[in-house]
Amino acid sequence: MQNDLFSEIAVTDVASVITPEAQRAAILRTELERHSHAYYVLDAPTIPDGEYDKLFLELQQLEEQFPALRTPDSPTLRVGGAPLAEFGQVQHAVPMLSLNNAFEDADIQAFDRRISEGLEAGSHASPQIDYAIDLKFDGLAINLRYVNGVFTQAATRGDGFVGEDVTENIRTVRSIPLRLNTPKPPAILDIRGEVLMFKSDFARLNQRQRDAGSKEFANPRNAAAGSLRQLDSKVTAQRHLRFFAYGIGLLEGAPLPESHRALLDWYQSMGVPVCDENAVVQGADGLLNFYRAIQVKRSTLAYEIDGVVYKVNDFAQQEELGFVSRAPRFAIAHKFPAEEALTIVQGIDIQVGRTGALTPVARLAPVFVGGVTITNATLHNEDEIRRKDVRIGDTVIVRRAGDVIPEVLAVVLERRPEPAPAAFEMLKNCPVCGSHVVREVGEAIARCTGGWFCSAQRKEALRHFAARKMMDIDGLGERYIENLVEFDYVRGIADLYKLTLSDLLEMKRRADEREGVIPETVQQGKIATKWAENLILAIDNSKRPPIERFLFALGIRHVGESTAKTVAEWLGSLALIRRAPLSLFLVLPDIGPAVAEAIADFFIEEKNQQALDELLLAGVAPQGEHPPSAKLSQQLETSVLLSALSIPKLTATRCKQLQERGVTLASLAAIADDGFVQLGLPADVNLALREWLSVANNKAQLNQLDYLRKMLLEQMPEALANEGLLAGKTFVLTGTLPSLSREQASALIEAAGGKVAGSVSKKTSYVVAGDEAGSKLLKAQELGVSILTEAELLQIVVGA
Ligand code: IVH
Repeated sequence: MQNDLFSEIAVTDVASVITPEAQRAAILRTELERHSHAYYVLDAPTIPDGEYDKLFLELQQLEEQFPALRTPDSPTLRVGGAPLAEFGQVQHAVPMLSLNNAFEDADIQAFDRRISEGLEAGSHASPQIDYAIDLKFDGLAINLRYVNGVFTQAATRGDGFVGEDVTENIRTVRSIPLRLNTPKPPAILDIRGEVLMFKSDFARLNQRQRDAGSKEFANPRNAAAGSLRQLDSKVTAQRHLRFFAYGIGLLEGAPLPESHRALLDWYQSMGVPVCDENAVVQGADGLLNFYRAIQVKRSTLAYEIDGVVYKVNDFAQQEELGFVSRAPRFAIAHKFPAEEALTIVQGIDIQVGRTGALTPVARLAPVFVGGVTITNATLHNEDEIRRKDVRIGDTVIVRRAGDVIPEVLAVVLERRPEPAPAAFEMLKNCPVCGSHVVREVGEAIARCTGGWFCSAQRKEALRHFAARKMMDIDGLGERYIENLVEFDYVRGIADLYKLTLSDLLEMKRRADEREGVIPETVQQGKIATKWAENLILAIDNSKRPPIERFLFALGIRHVGESTAKTVAEWLGSLALIRRAPLSLFLVLPDIGPAVAEAIADFFIEEKNQQALDELLLAGVAPQGEHPPSAKLSQQLETSVLLSALSIPKLTATRCKQLQERGVTLASLAAIADDGFVQLGLPADVNLALREWLSVANNKAQLNQLDYLRKMLLEQMPEALANEGLLAGKTFVLTGTLPSLSREQASALIEAAGGKVAGSVSKKTSYVVAGDEAGSKLLKAQELGVSILTEAELLQIVVGA
């Protein structure tokens, strides 16, 4: 289906020309457009980018050589042409109207009633009413004119009657077909829809703007507008605009489809992009259900929307309902609550996080946005404030989308007060503890160096430690944490476990005193103690956390719930984890270098080791510790460990070769000068390895790792036996085996702890091949996967 999308065009095109060059050009045009469509509309690329570029270049050269071969639908025009002095004006054949907006459920129920009543008033007694629902795209409305199927003109909405001619810019939008894929195109077709920018393209564009020191765009809509209104279409071509069709203007020379849905299907069949998030429903409930579902899905969409649009599906019914002033009666936009609003920055506070990160936060004049009133918004970091140039007194655009933290998007410079307020400067000292602030090279975040000394960090760390998914200390809320830290009852985390009833009561008394309150109980000459007893109980109850929660609770940078789980599952015990070298974390699955380093760094720090000891001494005992996972044995192969060390030029394949040649970590550490030749490595690799080994620390690291490896492997065999000989291995069966049926072979493999998969990939450990093995065997050979006969399999599994 995909393949012959444009084949009809190829035939007509080729038939009407004669020279071989003309034929080739026609084929190239068709091919290029087919690949473009597959890439930009179907999201299913058909050829590698390089191949596309080659074909493109070939067509460009042909057209240069034979200018007569240039056609208005040539993809070579998509790269943009000479800049314009100004945009021409275009009168819309059919005016481009706007929609009435609705925000409340009641507005939608009223809309549904109006439609029913409107149609009942006509000839029909009780008509069937279907509503077509589209998304309301947050872009710019555009009219695309196709004459005899060829794209000839694009115009913006303008005032609805006259718009700007942006033909050359629109030609650069790859998903818009330059020729409609239909054998019988209408004489004139005005397709209406929205030009927009995907969120990912927007992020990339702003990154480029940042890198070039140019101004960033506040949102994808502004970026789309700015890109479409470029006099230089070459600039537009770089911007990756997209298009979704949702309406029609003038149509001549073809029958109008019967409904909105049919119109979109027709467009789609001609290769015009139509968004696939749409529906046909009945009644107000149908409309509201779709609205709610899409509201949930909104943040996962590739583009921004600001609501949905409901249209009576049937065109005859649409016509019957007609228009009121400049908006149709048959349609309405159901908008989401605004997510952006203007407000004034009253101050810039600096907050100190658990890891000491200093986050500037804008204090705002309260403003209603995205359904709630917000009074502050994050400014992320120093660079961000500078880039956006946010100053106190500025009017800013703030955004709050879904559950995301509100942020300041941009400053409205025209509204900056006179004289201009001073530019933002990051503090040199922590606003909480006064320790000096550092910002490491390459880091965007400035940090307080106070660590546990800084009460802000202490509070945050305690909050994290006590939270539900960590130590789950019920009742240790915000206020108690504040007081415990401010009155110095908790200096180290372990102090939590030393608190007595009288400590807590005294703390409460001091807090009341400071706030000048005398609780009712005190007035009555009594002291409330229940809360303190409960809190002490809750603290005591938290002493036996599962090991993974305990790890999570420590507040190691980058270590979230799932990383903590992985580490606990693979390494098993705190004793091992707290002494493990970086390279051991590096070989664990799903743990990248930054995370591995953060874990190793945490445990290298003497004061963290001390804090751990104190916790253990205070009676905290992680539960569910176990020997290292049997799965770890594979990660402990010499080649895997070597590869984790990232020795320059020593690729994973080279590490494998070394292992195959019998090299061990210890032998490498002890290698003599004349030993290098025997490694069989190319000269440059040899040299890099030699250099690496000449650093004393690296040799020590190898020896330490070798020792650790042996120790771990010794701890493991029992677990290994339990998990089976083939644990972690994946098998693929192909062909007919001499004696075993497929089921029998699978059962044998699975009984030994292995897995049986249906297709061969790089992850396949072995392919077991019998007679008439087909493509799977070929694939295995291609990928270099080991191939076994039935006899070999039996030997491994049952020793037969
Ligand atoms: S239909 C006669 N459908 O909303 C109705 N408009 O307020 C013509 N828009 O300028 C518009 N998504 O930019 C329609 N799925 C959609 C839309 C949509 C976005 C915009 C369009 C128009 C404005 C109308």
